[in-house]
Amino acid sequence: MNLRDRYAIPTDDDGHEVVELRAFTHGLMPQTVPAMMERFCRDWQERGVDAWNAVETRWVGSETNEEGEDGETGWWRLPELLGDRFVAPLLGAPAGTCLWQPSVHHAVQHLLSAPEVFAEDRREVVVTENAFPSVLHSVQRWKDLLGLSLTVVPAGADGFVDREAVLDTLGPETALVALSHVGFTTGERLPDSFLTKVAARTHRAGGLFVLDGYHAAASMPVQVEELGADLYLGGLLKEGSGSAGNAFVYVREGVELTPRLTGWFGNAAPFAFQQRPEPHPDVRRRFLGGTTPVASMYHAVEGVRILLEAGLDAVRADSLEKTARGIARAEAAGLPLRSPRAAEQRGAMLILEVEAADRLCAWLKARGVYTDSRQGRFLRMAPFVWNSEAEVERAFDLVAEADRTGAHHKAPLPETGGPVT
Ligand SMILES: Cc1ncc(COP(=O)(O)O)c(C=O)c1O
Repeated sequence: MNLRDRYAIPTDDDGHEVVELRAFTHGLMPQTVPAMMERFCRDWQERGVDAWNAVETRWVGSETNEEGEDGETGWWRLPELLGDRFVAPLLGAPAGTCLWQPSVHHAVQHLLSAPEVFAEDRREVVVTENAFPSVLHSVQRWKDLLGLSLTVVPAGADGFVDREAVLDTLGPETALVALSHVGFTTGERLPDSFLTKVAARTHRAGGLFVLDGYHAAASMPVQVEELGADLYLGGLLKEGSGSAGNAFVYVREGVELTPRLTGWFGNAAPFAFQQRPEPHPDVRRRFLGGTTPVASMYHAVEGVRILLEAGLDAVRADSLEKTARGIARAEAAGLPLRSPRAAEQRGAMLILEVEAADRLCAWLKARGVYTDSRQGRFLRMAPFVWNSEAEVERAFDLVAEADRTGAHHKAPLPETGGPVT
């Protein structure tokens, strides 16, 4: 699969297209985004305040999508519309369960603020040590605030999630278990059989099971109901190719939560301006805070649209094929792989352990191959739908050359630029 022509490919200083392998940080911009942003300006210009009530829908039935349904929507209803029409298909979730969010952090704060999550005798939160900070730091803050007990399960000797240790931790005091569906430092995808066990044990104790699927959703099909997750969080910036300000939450039907951090957009009667808050009858809508930033929603799902059109099974098959190619090349060159080999345990990301990974990353970048490095030891790359097989080969030709010759050791580290690699 090569959906390259659906995306804008970045170029180097000489105008040559680069090999972008950092889908795990920020996906490439879909070609339809500039038209959508122009639409935002036009909707605002032509309708002003009334755009909150009605705009011609640009998300379904627009010139970027010929379905012709849902002729009108309003900015007010976009969080649900995007949830139902674009996030739910990514997760195999029913309509009415998914909602746009500005970030995972936002959704986690809302969740932890809900009194239903904890009871007098059920106050333990379980996470793993390589949870993303939006989860890991948040539960530490709330632990202090609410006097919770927190269990951070260390990784196993292989660096992956210690599944037995997670299962052993779950007991009658477990209120909340939050796991990463695919680990951002390991590329490890947790198997369905393990997740369903976690769900069953957590539910037996009356707790909630949360999955952070930022590195899973949009790179593979997810069947959230089969996994037994009560909440599934994620974002659309990476393989989904939305830009910043686009994340989501799924709340299983029947889960009752009344976040204290909800805002007037999550109120039952926002324009009644009541003296007391009244939770919206739709639980997912309670995850909204203040006025939603609508501009980001115009670029939220252009990438998701491409992936859904291609079919998530095909997207996953393509990703597995490209990562298999990378693994074969790494093995042939004797490069240690730190992400899983087995297809069912793989996400979309490959991680190599190499000496001077930061210099290798800079050396590759100077040759038009964009990867990232972590802790000076790990080189991460994720060949995705916009990469050709030849690009994967080129990346590994260069990595193997650097490993053989040590050429990258002399590569200068970038002197300027920000912290994002
Ligand atoms: C697993 C995971 N969760 C969450 C996030 C982002 O969280 P937030 O939306 O709060 O910035 C990332 C970003 O890289 C991530 O990898």
